[in-house]
Amino acid sequence: MAILVTGGTGYIGSHTCVELLNEGYEIVVVDNFYNSKPIVVDRIKEITGKDFKFYEADCCDKEAMEKIFSENKIEGAIHFAGYKAVGESVAKPVMYYQNNIDSTLTLIETMERHNCYVLAFSSSATVYGSPKTCPIKEDFPLSTTNPYGTTKLFIERILQDVYVSNNKWSIALLRYFNPIGAHKSGLIGENPNDIPNNLMPYINKVAAGELPILHVFGNDYDTKDGTGVRDYIHVVDLARGHIAALRKIMTQTGVEPYNLGTGKGYSVLEMVENFEKANGVPVKYQIDARRPGDIATCFADGTKAKEELGFTCQYEIDEMCRDAWHYIEEEKKRNK
Ligand code: WQD
Repeated sequence: MAILVTGGTGYIGSHTCVELLNEGYEIVVVDNFYNSKPIVVDRIKEITGKDFKFYEADCCDKEAMEKIFSENKIEGAIHFAGYKAVGESVAKPVMYYQNNIDSTLTLIETMERHNCYVLAFSSSATVYGSPKTCPIKEDFPLSTTNPYGTTKLFIERILQDVYVSNNKWSIALLRYFNPIGAHKSGLIGENPNDIPNNLMPYINKVAAGELPILHVFGNDYDTKDGTGVRDYIHVVDLARGHIAALRKIMTQTGVEPYNLGTGKGYSVLEMVENFEKANGVPVKYQIDARRPGDIATCFADGTKAKEELGFTCQYEIDEMCRDAWHYIEEEKKRNK
């Protein structure tokens, strides 16, 4: 019996495949490489020394998904596949709604046809919108400020309706905070080809000399130093959170949201300082205007995941910064 990982060659998907294989799960991976590269399949096998079936396909493709479930005994799925750039979603909302929702509907239909009712969904802290207070609990009000976040909110609602229609379903809605870092091997990680939207990949490119300076989006927020505060979680901790959630949904039915975050908030300037201290590499920055849509502070209350999933984060911010940079350095050596 295998676990299907959609989007399994992506940043979080690939790290979760490594943890699943290390835990002894059999996996089947499907990805269309929209936001990843084929080499990641080999890297996952190299890290774990284990083999697995891979399908290059789009999760919106009904025939492709039917083929995967017909050819494999799938006992559960972790659904990462989806577009995830906030800015792009504002410019191309229809593309985001069509892809993120259709791929999920196709997956659900195929799973039901094959009597498979165990699903972990890759949601996001973005469904909390602009929370009035922090730390954020799972029962906080949900609201979104961009089409990407709205696709996550819509899919959470769809999955709740699916459970009401068929109580055999067991679904975890995993709300990620800010994933950063990379596997210790330096073989998988995050290094977008284009100009990064997110803070850590941008810091990495400035440290590597690929970009001249970090633009800090505002220092007039109501935070410790005026810059934005976020809950950065090591991507390997995030992957471990999926294993903890999978264990739980294998044993019971229902639909439950879980925050996957450390519960600690770091400002942008603290992240620059932590990165420089951890890696001994300077990161030049300048203060710029706020980025539209940004919120001041966002960090998790991880109590529910700890109490119900037995999940707690193991990595601290210095390791996250070191592992993120180690991947960049290893990639540079490989591409020489
Ligand atoms: C973090 C902080 C910025 C870049 C986003 C998505 C969210 C989730 C995680 C998918 C903020 C500041 C950033 C830069 C900066 N993705 N910053 N200069 O916005 O918290 O969340 O990624 O689920 O949906 O919204 O992450 O890394 O973009 O920003 O000053 O060049 O760094 O203002 O305070 P964010 P981020």
